Amino acid sequence: TMSVSASDPFTLELAGHSLKQLAERYGTPLYIFDRATIVNACAQYREAFRREYQASSVQILYASKAYLSPMLARLIAEEGLGLDVVSGGELLVAHRAAFPMERISFHGNNKSAEELRLALRLGVGRIVLDNWSELRRLTQIAREMQMHPGVLVRVAPDVETDTHRYLQTGHATAKFGFPLSTGDAAEAVRTILREGQLHLLGLHAHSGTMLRETRPYEECLQRLLELAVLLHKETGWWPQELSPGGGWAIATPDAPDRPDPALLAAALQRCILHCVDTLKISQPLPMLIIEPGRSIIARAGIALYRIGARKATPGGITYLFVDGGMADNIRPALYGALYTALPVEQLEREHDVSFCVSGRYCESGDMLIEEVRLPDMREGELLLLPTAGAYCLPMASNYNLVPRPGVLLVDKETIHVMERRETYDDLLSRYCD
Ligand code: LLP
Repeated sequence: TMSVSASDPFTLELAGHSLKQLAERYGTPLYIFDRATIVNACAQYREAFRREYQASSVQILYASKAYLSPMLARLIAEEGLGLDVVSGGELLVAHRAAFPMERISFHGNNKSAEELRLALRLGVGRIVLDNWSELRRLTQIAREMQMHPGVLVRVAPDVETDTHRYLQTGHATAKFGFPLSTGDAAEAVRTILREGQLHLLGLHAHSGTMLRETRPYEECLQRLLELAVLLHKETGWWPQELSPGGGWAIATPDAPDRPDPALLAAALQRCILHCVDTLKISQPLPMLIIEPGRSIIARAGIALYRIGARKATPGGITYLFVDGGMADNIRPALYGALYTALPVEQLEREHDVSFCVSGRYCESGDMLIEEVRLPDMREGELLLLPTAGAYCLPMASNYNLVPRPGVLLVDKETIHVMERRETYDDLLSRYCD
């Protein structure tokens, strides 16, 4: 929760903490998460689905690929959400936080035997199967370990989405899931039922991310239910769980209206009731699972940088060089993602100068913001990027051998260091000679 200081109305605070002091104390670049914003986002999802989706129960899984730490996992658990994890690493962070394993879904298109064994040993609630190799691998491992893990079959739904090419996952050529139209999805279900080693809980599909319309979700759900009805007639099996994935959008500088989870909840409810009608479903409705990542965490996080230099070019662009950049936020370079920036102090100044906000990395593509109007900012000042909570830190690298930023979680009472700033010792410790 951002506000201005009571003593100085022209400087910014987060949850009552002076950003200037946080930057001085913890160094920059610094990522800061606001606990209240996370809690509110979780509550908003819970409320939206409690209100709108009365057909059956709903499980909300936070997609931890958007950002995860043990401290955040504990907060997510307290809020009653589950987790969608995609690697042994994310699973171990959840485990360290003593996250309730039955509330975890293990996703991914190429889980290793080691990761699958870890998931079974820890007792994750469901493993989402992506392809035939994985189905065979997990069946074999489950047999060896004499277990019957819960699984979902991920269906490639052949659903088009209106989002960046790299953020589409449900189209006909996408790499995720068992294709529907080739019959692979149905055949995967039959195989699991025939072999009896895996406990088939349900069906899953995810069509993309940064989605602003509900149509792709409805198409996914409809296709999953059609498949379920077909398989029920043939085998008697009926899903206990059904998931149209995650991917709900957030507000961005070019589309500033905030998509409301209640819209999604209402559309899913309508869609399911419609399907019950048209497909003549008399079975109990499956539990609905949704997997929001970005829309839970993006707004809760900010990035704080210090400007190290300002440079005017003969071409007319004036740069502000900050002490982070593409290694802690690859999103502008990778997806053309848009961010905006704010000063932290002397807020009374007019935003009357155009800058390109560029990082410290040795690449021309290292631009956080191609053009933003700011006050006449100078070397030494702090620059804040809002809505930096999702997919920045988890995609961070050590490019140019620069240590990764520190990460805080703040609320009114406390400042928690969620991740300490990486040190040169951390970096050097990985070399073997
Ligand atoms: N469920 C599944 C199966 C997914 O593949 C994803 C995202 C999610 C849920 C969560 O989507 P969200 O609600 O966070 O949009 N690095 C990209 C985003 C990649 C998302 C991949 N899968 C970015 O920075 O925009």
